[in-house]
Amino acid sequence: MAVWIVTGGTRGLGAGLVEELLALNAQVAFCARSAKDVHAAEQRWGANVLGVIGSLADPSFVARLVSLTVHRFGGLDGIAANAAVLGSPPLSEVTALDPSQLAQILEANLLGNLRLIAASHSHLVQSVSPRVLAITSDAAHAAYPGWSGYALSKAALEVLVETYGAEHPVVSTYILDPGDMDTALHAEALPHDPTPLRAPREVASAAAPLLHGARRQSGRYRLAPNGAGILALEEVTLRVAPVSS
Ligand SMILES: NC(=O)c1ccc[n+]([C@@H]2O[C@H](COP(=O)([O-])OP(=O)(O)OC[C@H]3O[C@@H](n4cnc5c(N)ncnc54)[C@H](OP(=O)(O)O)[C@@H]3O)[C@@H](O)[C@H]2O)c1
Repeated sequence: MAVWIVTGGTRGLGAGLVEELLALNAQVAFCARSAKDVHAAEQRWGANVLGVIGSLADPSFVARLVSLTVHRFGGLDGIAANAAVLGSPPLSEVTALDPSQLAQILEANLLGNLRLIAASHSHLVQSVSPRVLAITSDAAHAAYPGWSGYALSKAALEVLVETYGAEHPVVSTYILDPGDMDTALHAEALPHDPTPLRAPREVASAAAPLLHGARRQSGRYRLAPNGAGILALEEVTLRVAPVSS
């Protein structure tokens, strides 16, 4: 059985990824800050899950998450770096962006994932098919006014994960842009968005080829409509081979 860590597993895309992994017969540790939500999700999902309460922004928590996972399930095959914060509303333009607000966003969305990768690495390389799946956003590649903090954190996360993959090609590193989904984070960002939103569980199912089975090329993927409401996994960019200096 493959063992995964999913950050932010209590709702939204994270909950969808936990459910998809359980359906693929994996054992899954997940985390979130709300103790109530972690307990409720653990009860809902049963024996093959481990819920761990804490914040990615807390350095000691990330190390604990990894060690509890390995202790409970005996190894680690994949991490889904899913949890992210938007920053406290109202979102600020660049000229009004408070550096301490930016630091809070980076602490959770970037440094938390750096610590997670670093703490997981020695376990991942013992797996026969180690994978890192990082959830990004189109905000990393588009200049949405007021979103610079979140966008910076996602752009930097992409560079972090691609560089880690170049340094350790034995680990498959996937960056996934899930598109707009019907989640709490989206409601916080765009409360009156009239566009139809994807169900996060549906997005998680479409991402299944990155979670199990034959390894795909490391790189950036997105989910696009493939007609009749079916989502297709599309390769957007493949990693450029690293230049040796
Ligand atoms: N929704 C969209 O339209 C959309 C579009 C593009 C990209 N994305 C990306 O998709 C991913 C999932 O987003 P979502 O929409 O599913 O978000 P969501 O509904 O807000 O869920 C976020 C999950 O992460 C947890 N979480 C948040 N901050 C955390 C922290 N510091 N430490 C540990 N857990 C934390 C939350 O639980 P607690 O609050 O209890 O901690 C929750 O379980 C994110 O990376 C987001 O940037 C979303």
